Amino acid sequence: MNLDKIFDSSARLKILGIESSCDETGAAVYHVARGLLSNELYSQVDLHAWHGGVIPELASRLHMEKIGIIVQKALDAAQVTLDEIDVIAVTSKPGLPGALMIGVSYAKGLAFAKNKKLIGINHLEGHVFSACIENVVPFPFICLTVSGGHTSMYLVENFGQYTLIGHTIDDAAGEAFDKIAKMMNLPYPGGPVIEKLAEQVEFKDFFQYTRGSMQNNNFSFSGLKTSILYDLVKRDAYDLQAKKFLKDDDLYFKQQVASSLLVCMGDIFEKKLAQVIKQYPDIKAISFVGGVACNKYLRRTLQAFAEKRRIQLFYPSGKLCTDNAGMIAFVGAYKALQNQFDDLDLPIF
Ligand code: KG4
Ligand code: ZN
Repeated sequence: MNLDKIFDSSARLKILGIESSCDETGAAVYHVARGLLSNELYSQVDLHAWHGGVIPELASRLHMEKIGIIVQKALDAAQVTLDEIDVIAVTSKPGLPGALMIGVSYAKGLAFAKNKKLIGINHLEGHVFSACIENVVPFPFICLTVSGGHTSMYLVENFGQYTLIGHTIDDAAGEAFDKIAKMMNLPYPGGPVIEKLAEQVEFKDFFQYTRGSMQNNNFSFSGLKTSILYDLVKRDAYDLQAKKFLKDDDLYFKQQVASSLLVCMGDIFEKKLAQVIKQYPDIKAISFVGGVACNKYLRRTLQAFAEKRRIQLFYPSGKLCTDNAGMIAFVGAYKALQNQFDDLDLPIF
């Protein structure tokens, strides 16, 4: 989507976006009239996978090593020089403090040395508008943001105008995928592995895991994780005392767990969205974003759900679902077009 027409602007701003809130070092260039020109990423996932999850200090050290290289790659891929950049947008919250500090310090250094405007971006606002980069998503829409750190629903009324209407009270859905995968000795991150296992059998509710409370718009995935743990114990698949998975060699069992888990997640998202649509009957679309929105089964499920209700479903392409700097540059662009800049004392949260 080209923002210059929406904001009726003749300024051909070019925004450099920088992302370093967790375990991905990202840089991207967004041109308000031409769209996303580049979106480069150095993923640390393989290094953290070795430890079974993200190690904050390791993340900061890797950001520090890679950030300069990734920024240069993004500028080269966009065929622009740093001098041609108008604004530097950087994720300043929320995230791992040490990781955020690398990106924000780097952005401040560039802004100071090259006399550029600086904008601090909320990483979650990046996810909320990530489907708008490649699509014209009509307002108002409901955004279901599902990642390793967050599971939330927002009512989105315009660029920069969004209200939280539901969130997880404990674990995020991606975190539940990761933890359940770990219980079964599957590698980190768990989501893609669970998807692959489930795809090898039919999508069926083999083990009928608990759906949790439907009383309000909030989510809870900690209960689901515990109920799966006890279900594994009941099926002689897990030794609670030794904390050991006992069915490493039983591929079909792992496929059944994966399939049941995905069917259960899809069901939870459908039920919560149905509830929210009743509360906000004038919504025109649903956008499904964040790392978990890469999941093809969940996309298909929500697509069928939306079609039944004659509303549109949008999701970003894979590179814009997981953490990335493209979404940070995009939010930076509409903030710049509204003159919302920060000073060099920009804090992190
Ligand atoms: O948005 P993201 O890259 O980082 C965070 O901000 O957390 O999301 C990462 C999460 C992980 O928990 C991972 O297991 C999950 O997204 N994920 C998936 C898939 N790809 C990544 N979950 C289900 N199916 C997938 N295909
Ligand atoms: Zn994220």
